[in-house]
Amino acid sequence: MTSVYLSERQRSAIKTLPKVELHLHFEGCIQPESIEALARSIDQPMIRRTQDLYSFKDLEEFLSTLDWICNLVGSEHEITTLSQSLVNYLRGQNIVCAEIIINPSHWRLSLDSLLPPILAEFARAESQFGITLGLLPSIGRHQKNADAMQLLDWCVSNSHPNLRGFSIDGSERGGSRTDQFVGAFKKAKESGLGITAHAGESSGSQGVVAALDQLGVDRLDHGVRAVEDPGLMSRLAAEGIPLNVCVSSNCHNLYPSFDQHPLPQLLAKGLICTINTDDPAMLDINLSSELVAVADAYDLSLGDLKQLQLNAVGAAFCPLDNKAQLARQIENEWSAIT
Ligand code: ADE
Ligand code: ZN
Repeated sequence: MTSVYLSERQRSAIKTLPKVELHLHFEGCIQPESIEALARSIDQPMIRRTQDLYSFKDLEEFLSTLDWICNLVGSEHEITTLSQSLVNYLRGQNIVCAEIIINPSHWRLSLDSLLPPILAEFARAESQFGITLGLLPSIGRHQKNADAMQLLDWCVSNSHPNLRGFSIDGSERGGSRTDQFVGAFKKAKESGLGITAHAGESSGSQGVVAALDQLGVDRLDHGVRAVEDPGLMSRLAAEGIPLNVCVSSNCHNLYPSFDQHPLPQLLAKGLICTINTDDPAMLDINLSSELVAVADAYDLSLGDLKQLQLNAVGAAFCPLDNKAQLARQIENEWSAIT
């Protein structure tokens, strides 16, 4: 069904309006053509036919496809090229602020080879194009405390203005295993990094509670299964913890359709939500298509979408003066579309 709330003019304006995205994985932004070229360059057969590359049955198969893709990359030069493609994608969508998660456990490159070329490209894109870019190194749920400490120590010793947060992602089906990461997340917070965690996707509401109480999250990636616990929804609303929601992604891995997704209930309960794509290349979506799809599914107006964008500005880990300028830009440009 097409939304009665978005006019054709508004629908097409969404692509060019300035936007913010906070839940986007570096690994999930690599386009199939780049993957084919990387595989060809080292004579690796494709894991599946290109057209079936992103047909996965569940989150675990999806995550192992990411491992396979990332293992095709063997040089800093390739990382720079992938970072430039990502910046081009963001510019094409007029995403003016993005915070990008990268999980080094998917990659065979060392932290010293993987992270500096991305940070250098982000700094270049900020000064050349005025895009606000943050990198959020992420530990995988399957990893150990020592891995988390090693990643955090790298972040602390390689402090960089575009290194803005610390994250945990991956699957919680083998258990949330949150206890062992308490020390690393405490130290990350003390060193000034924003804290975010994937929870309430492959875990239920207890995973969200653990992320709040044990990891001290500033915001949640997904978090949507908080809907299973009304008391938890009230707590999230009262504490103003934002949820970086990815409806299309959840409709691959979690819910059968947009109709079954709890975004409308979360909004009705007063939770701060933002709209994101998670892994746009793998899902063959982009932020503009996602915003239109969400508006159509839940009868949201352009004003509602503007508010979701402002929520993302509020939840971003970038400096406060940057946030004030982004909020002004979004308010002005989104309000000018009638
Ligand atoms: N890494 C990339 N996408 C993810 C997701 N949806 N859940 C957990 N880890 C991820
Ligand atoms: Zn994610």
